Amino acid sequence: MNYRHAYHAGNFADVLKHTVLFALIEALQAKATPFAFIDTHAGSGCYALDSAEAGKTGEYKDGIARLLFPDLHAAGGSGPLPPLLRRWLDAILRVPGNEHGLKLYPGSPLQVANAIRETDSAQLCELHPEEATRLRELFRHDHRVHVHERNGYEALKALLPPREKRGLVLIDPPYEAQEAEYRVIERALKLALQRWPTGVYAVWYPIKLRSQVQPFHRWLQHCGVRRVLRAELLVHPDDSPLRLNGSGMVILNAPWKLDDALRDALRAMAPLLSQERRAEWRLDWLVEEARA
Ligand SMILES: C[S@@+](CC[C@H](N)C(=O)[O-])C[C@H]1O[C@@H](n2cnc3c(N)ncnc32)[C@H](O)[C@@H]1O
Repeated sequence: MNYRHAYHAGNFADVLKHTVLFALIEALQAKATPFAFIDTHAGSGCYALDSAEAGKTGEYKDGIARLLFPDLHAAGGSGPLPPLLRRWLDAILRVPGNEHGLKLYPGSPLQVANAIRETDSAQLCELHPEEATRLRELFRHDHRVHVHERNGYEALKALLPPREKRGLVLIDPPYEAQEAEYRVIERALKLALQRWPTGVYAVWYPIKLRSQVQPFHRWLQHCGVRRVLRAELLVHPDDSPLRLNGSGMVILNAPWKLDDALRDALRAMAPLLSQERRAEWRLDWLVEEARA
């Protein structure tokens, strides 16, 4: 439990993760019926970019800042951003405190809380006591949001299926257990799918060595879910176990046309997030069911 997201908030991995999250929330809102959002690893909800933690790494400068100020980046400034990215950035800049520029980076709980409707709900799990306290404080006046200071994997048993019978589970662990984390995720997903087979599940993962991710992808291909979308962005070759070379999201039971919604966004963010070489992106179906 040493991980603190404050050091990484708004970095290139958050840009991918939260763009996908934003597209998922938009897709769920296409229907009027309420939905539930369940965040198994919520973090503290909002991060000051002038904090000692964020200042120490400056990771957001090679992440969200590149999208907000594309002209400052060598590969950027090649035209307007696609509408999904523009809407996502506008939502970040609408967060109170960001009126005069990017000062705060909202985490998944706040991004979702700012997007959902009066009838939707959010269940946020966070195991670290200090992060959970901040989260509770952030949402103390929001009756739609419920904070649980507990293990998010274990909480799924109690939280699924949600009362709304539709919605999204975000699984965004810190991978302190390295490759063993994937096995924990697989077990959690197996049980979750038994309780709620129609839920949408989005899992974020780091890419260091490609071989570390492949067993998880193979597991997904045999887990019984008929639509699994994969979105990845690599800023370095996937050949070093020591650094974060890229990251990915897999989306189980992905909403129809989510791939279409994301394609232009990934294409546009890749050159802006490039480091020593041009970033690579991938958007494909690990499992795809033909539409009847
Ligand atoms: C990557 S951060 C989450 C970031 C957040 N989802 C976002 O997008 O803004 C992971 C968080 O999970 C918490 N955590 C670690 N293990 C946990 C567990 N088993 N259950 C719930 N939270 C956990 C950590 O304290 C950390 O705050």
